[in-house]
Amino acid sequence: MREKAKNKKDRRKTAKAKTKLWGGRFAARTAKTVETFTESISFDKRLWKYDIEGSMAHARMLGRQGIIPERDSRAIIRGLERIAGRIASGEFVFREELEDIHMNIESALIEDIGPAGGKLHTARSRNDQIALDLRLYLRDETKEVIGLIREFHAALLEAAEKRMGDVMPGYTHMQRAQPVLLSHHLLAYAAMLERDVERFCEALKRTNTMPLGACALAGTGLPVDRAYVARLLGFEGVTANSMDSVSDRDFVIEFLSNASVLMMHISRLSEEIVLWSTAEFDFIELPDAFATGSSMMPQKKNPDVAELARGKTGRVYGNLMGMLTIMKGLPLTYNRDLQEDKPLLFDTVDTVKSVLRVFTEMLPVIRFKTERLKAASGGFSTATDLAEYLVKKGMPFREAHGVVGRLVLYAAGGGKTLEALGLEEFRRFSPLFDSAVFDLLSPEKSVSVKKSLGSTAPAMVKRQLRQAKKRPRTCRRNS
Ligand code: ARG
Repeated sequence: MREKAKNKKDRRKTAKAKTKLWGGRFAARTAKTVETFTESISFDKRLWKYDIEGSMAHARMLGRQGIIPERDSRAIIRGLERIAGRIASGEFVFREELEDIHMNIESALIEDIGPAGGKLHTARSRNDQIALDLRLYLRDETKEVIGLIREFHAALLEAAEKRMGDVMPGYTHMQRAQPVLLSHHLLAYAAMLERDVERFCEALKRTNTMPLGACALAGTGLPVDRAYVARLLGFEGVTANSMDSVSDRDFVIEFLSNASVLMMHISRLSEEIVLWSTAEFDFIELPDAFATGSSMMPQKKNPDVAELARGKTGRVYGNLMGMLTIMKGLPLTYNRDLQEDKPLLFDTVDTVKSVLRVFTEMLPVIRFKTERLKAASGGFSTATDLAEYLVKKGMPFREAHGVVGRLVLYAAGGGKTLEALGLEEFRRFSPLFDSAVFDLLSPEKSVSVKKSLGSTAPAMVKRQLRQAKKRPRTCRRNS
């Protein structure tokens, strides 16, 4: 018993004297400024669970292959479990002088179980270890982001279903163009999000390959079983080239790129929310819970959530540009520059998740001012329907376009809308007009005469909604 306690004490002493796991070839200490400059523990500690999960699988494989004794493999795994418990409970102290999450955990393991802990890093380098941790992390986060997009998508479908039949002006060039169903407008965003999900699912396939065994860059002479580790960790397969394995970050770039496209979509919706809530548009009212006030102007109610989402889109784009720029000049294989990937990636993950959550909550409580939307849909927005009416009576479209254009010019000159014109005024422009024309001039009629697939006709919009509801809940493969 006494002997055991003494051994433990000795081990602690040696561990203290030589904190750096790579200290062998160094005679002098690292400068404090360098430790602070090079550390990543302040941000990569977020990867602890994945680092431990990966190490456990690696230790199991080492034992199974007889590269280390089974007994040591078991001791390592139990030690890692204890460390996981200490980190989860918050009692684990992360140390800057141990640089990163990998060495913090490995040092704690050696401190805990003694020299057997020093066998964990057999046939492994931090280069393949960080590639593994990042892939495990991003695999989980991608699935979570996909789940959150789907929740937001469901909120859009619900809003679209609730407003079925309400009309609003559709715009091109920010000029009123043709009436559309509000549901159709909302479902346009649902369609964008569906593609976003597909993109994330697609990227997940490439993220889900296992890099461990690449070691520093060249692989190892020890008889590792990479496929076994991949199976233990639920990967689709192993990476093909050890040099690529440690230096590739395209899976990070793909995530950032997909996040940028997603944010671009949300930013466009944000812009509309900002516009629609102005007194000039007055299409929606945000509930108090989702608006903020001004510290000076008592009357203000600002759409800050939408504005911030629009602003954060710039930040996410910046992270993508940052990562592309970090990578562009890097020779093979691992370079420390790659450590800079993490703050950009983590920030993007956090930003995208927070934006999706708040939008999923906000969307259902936006009040659409149905009457205002309808009133704004009239005017000249039905001019295209009038031209199509003439086409149906046999007039070439180009001619019909001219007739209705002159009609609009005439009405606008007299300060009237199309609805306000009498039949004989219509007939002055073409004898093909008859009293059925009045039936065409309401925005509801305008949407209901649409026939094409994917159009704003109520039947087509309902069909879109039905199809959108049927979208699969998970990625087709690999998830
Ligand atoms: N903290 C490092 C990173 O994030 C881990 C890999 C370090 N490898 C090395 N040889 N210094 O990239």
